[in-house]
Amino acid sequence: MPHALITGASDGIGRALVDVYHAKEWDITATARRPAEAIMPELPCAYVPLDLTTGAESLLEKLPPKLDLAILNAGAGKVAAPADHSAEDVAQMIALNTTAPLLLAQALFPRLEGGTLAFIGSTAARGAHKDFSVYAATKAALSGAARSLALEWEGLVKVLMLHPGPTATTMHDKAGLGDIAARRFFTPPAKVAASLADAIDRGKNRRLGAAYTARHALEGLFK
Ligand SMILES: NC(=O)c1ccc[n+]([C@@H]2O[C@H](COP(=O)([O-])OP(=O)(O)OC[C@H]3O[C@@H](n4cnc5c(N)ncnc54)[C@H](OP(=O)(O)O)[C@@H]3O)[C@@H](O)[C@H]2O)c1
Repeated sequence: MPHALITGASDGIGRALVDVYHAKEWDITATARRPAEAIMPELPCAYVPLDLTTGAESLLEKLPPKLDLAILNAGAGKVAAPADHSAEDVAQMIALNTTAPLLLAQALFPRLEGGTLAFIGSTAARGAHKDFSVYAATKAALSGAARSLALEWEGLVKVLMLHPGPTATTMHDKAGLGDIAARRFFTPPAKVAASLADAIDRGKNRRLGAAYTARHALEGLFK
């Protein structure tokens, strides 16, 4: 059976990705910070609790020697005007959204030969959104690194950069986004996870942008 690592798998898109790959009968190792008791036994796979900003040694020890897929999905944002982002906010977002996936990608490289590494970015990396400057910067930096890694590892590890659009997870509450009307058009995480898995199957970089979000919003209205 193929084996996938999924980070940020306790909630939102990552949790939905676990369900997608479980339905495909893959072996999965999932990771996030919250303790195992908080998500087991519902999570149908192995789980390693870990704060990815503090290093990934304890995760690497528990992974099999060969992985077919790693989806580096853990991430977080903070909605704030530039002047309201403290130095600590900036450092934390860079640590989780940029530094952690890049260091983990390097550490996973030997196990992933012949497999796929998928970074989860955001449409915010290319579009412009008020009050998302630091988050957008962290995802744009990751995107730049992914383009470079895709060339460096060509023929060895397939590197994909996938950009979800607005998704109805709890990320926005945690980030401090208010109860804006646009939220009702956010795509359900299960649909986003299915689209991400489809892009991974096809080996294609993908941006799930406005047209994608609008299509699902319309589907929702006519259900
Ligand atoms: N929701 C959107 O609209 C949207 C749009 C575009 C891109 N994205 C991206 O998609 C990815 C998933 O977002 P989501 O909406 O599913 O967010 P979410 O529901 O908040 O889930 C984030 C996941 O990351 C984990 N995590 C957070 N901090 C961590 C840390 N320090 N170490 C390890 N794990 C950590 C969380 O688990 P614990 O709390 O248990 O650690 C959780 O499993 C992120 O990279 C996000 O930037 C989201």
